[in-house]
Amino acid sequence: MQRLTDTAQIILDYLRDGQFRSGQMIGDHLATSRTSVWKHIDNLRANGYVIECKRACGYQLQHPFDPLTTDAILCHLAQWPHVQQLSLTPFVAINSTNDYLKSQGTAARVIQVCVAEQQLKARGRFNRHWHSPFGQNIYFSMAIQLAVPMAELSGLSLVISLAVVNALSDYGLDGEVLGIKWPNDIIFQGKKLAGILIELSGEAHATTDVVIGIGINANMDDAPLDTPWSSLQQVFGVPIQRAQLVASLIRNVYQALLTFQRSGFQPFKNAWQQHHCLQGQLIQLSIPQGRISGICKGIDNQGNIRIEGSDGIIESYGVGEASMHKDVNETGN
Ligand code: BTN
Repeated sequence: MQRLTDTAQIILDYLRDGQFRSGQMIGDHLATSRTSVWKHIDNLRANGYVIECKRACGYQLQHPFDPLTTDAILCHLAQWPHVQQLSLTPFVAINSTNDYLKSQGTAARVIQVCVAEQQLKARGRFNRHWHSPFGQNIYFSMAIQLAVPMAELSGLSLVISLAVVNALSDYGLDGEVLGIKWPNDIIFQGKKLAGILIELSGEAHATTDVVIGIGINANMDDAPLDTPWSSLQQVFGVPIQRAQLVASLIRNVYQALLTFQRSGFQPFKNAWQQHHCLQGQLIQLSIPQGRISGICKGIDNQGNIRIEGSDGIIESYGVGEASMHKDVNETGN
């Protein structure tokens, strides 16, 4: 796992716009020598940043982007009332932001957030691989102790998908264009834009340790994926400011958790159903025992999916992978 030193983060901030900055100018700002600046630049290069050096011009970041540094994220949270509770850990590279927070444990009233520029062993639902190239997307995890027993958390993953939609709306995306595929895939025009992996631990106690992992395809414009995917850069037509969106995720996910802790899934149900892209469709649900086919009749009060079989009986399911029925996709019906 690699973390940048504070000084390296500041230098990266100077170079983020892709303009040349002289070693002298950076050194003056940091009250350090040009040799020391050069050593930090070397450290950044060892961490994967491609930095050019030109005589009389200085240093230039070859692929300008907004690095997910602590300062870049916190500057969007200055007015947020919970900022003192936030413990934010950015990594250049890590196996998985979820695994990192799971290894740290939780503490009461502390909001732990981890982001990374790249994940080396990222996990999706059903233990699938999550494509996590360097510097392009958002790999975000939040760990928190919830005052809710594990048995009552069935609606949580749906609640988080709505929080992601709200975070994207705050960022400027028209929330109406976003769909959610049960339980929590974020969909744009039939393609996956973001995924959520929630991991729980705790005994049968009143509190549960929750790690919420969110992967958003942000500025990715090419990927070796065999399932249809989209990215925010494709949606907006320009690269997005990841740090601003991360701040929006922190606010929206935490707010959703507070409401869920107080009032359960009920306050989210209607808004969630408005985004559900499988509503009323002929679908298939893969569960450990096999496949269920039927018409999707929305969700129940716990967030389970309701499916009406050919016999007209509606059953609820709490786990599984839902998809449009193959015939429906092929015929467009
Ligand atoms: C899915 O399968 O749709 C869920 C994908 C979740 C990916 C995120 S990226 C941040 C966090 N770290 C991980 O290893 N996975 C989640």
